[in-house]
Amino acid sequence: MSAAKANFLHIEDLYKSYGPKRVLDNVDLSVGEGELCTLVGPSGCGKSTLLRQILGEEFPDAGRVTIEGADVGHPDPRRGIVFQRYSSYPHLSVLDNVVLGRRLQCSPLAWLTRRRQLIEEAMEYLQRVRLAEHADKYPHQLSGGMQQRVAIAQALILRPRVLLMDEPFGALDPDTREQMQLFLLELWERERMTVFFVTHDLEEAVFLGTRILVLSQYYRDRRGEGAGVNRGAKIIADYQLPRAASATDVKRDPVFAELVERIRREGFDPTARRHVDEFNLRHPHSFRTLTAEEAGRN
Ligand SMILES: Nc1ncnc2c1ncn2[C@@H]1O[C@H](COP(=O)(O)OP(=O)(O)OP(=O)(O)O)[C@@H](O)[C@H]1O
Ligand SMILES: [Mg+2]
Repeated sequence: MSAAKANFLHIEDLYKSYGPKRVLDNVDLSVGEGELCTLVGPSGCGKSTLLRQILGEEFPDAGRVTIEGADVGHPDPRRGIVFQRYSSYPHLSVLDNVVLGRRLQCSPLAWLTRRRQLIEEAMEYLQRVRLAEHADKYPHQLSGGMQQRVAIAQALILRPRVLLMDEPFGALDPDTREQMQLFLLELWERERMTVFFVTHDLEEAVFLGTRILVLSQYYRDRRGEGAGVNRGAKIIADYQLPRAASATDVKRDPVFAELVERIRREGFDPTARRHVDEFNLRHPHSFRTLTAEEAGRN
């Protein structure tokens, strides 16, 4: 893949603290257009924080986030987001919820003239998430999986360049979750959008991703282990994943299980910290810029 392709979404030297606590610590990341990146890491390591910097809901203390070379700034339609909990208006029908984002982009006059066209467009997105026949229902009349599909349609209708998803299937029962994973893969195959998918579930991450990123505060560097070291999370592993079959049978494959176990050890076990020089940054787009303090050995 060309360098320009690799740098569709680019994050460099990103630091973020809340008060005295450093959460993200010199994070570097380059993502190619159309990659389906999954992001895993221990609870509280900063996954949602990283998504918020990409979304532009918050700004890093230092470092840059760019999409196609331009700084991201405040949230705009280039970035869509789907959260774990359904985020639509209970008093609006499914169709009205999906059309709302487009409606808010129009002046009242433009809405009057474009209403029919935008409603047709919303119906098309409802078709893509297989909810067209539920367009007139209200959110509470839908199952959890259907509600998450509405949330996906709401994000997609704004045609984001990057779709950010923070534990989007975390509240679903296991069967629905598996169906939604297959649904997302189908959708991604069709639309080839760039996706950034945060999950607690390692199996889900390895199954879905073309690339898995492991964010973790469990690592060693030259800064040592003293109480004064305020260490945040870094991307400590970055693997390209084979896009195997889009059947969930692959989850029972021993190679799959071995990779899941390896990532669990690398990123989730506080007793098995790797030195920054030993990170498994195997993805071809992976890069990092360590400070002198971080680099090298004691
Ligand atoms: N607005 C905030 N103010 C202060 N601290 C915060 C804020 N948001 C997050 N934090 C802290 O930053 C750290 C990272 O939080 P974040 O929610 O990004 O983690 P996460 O990896 O998404 O966790 P989880 O897997 O539980 O969703 C946590 O210690 C959290 O308590
Ligand atoms: Mg989170």
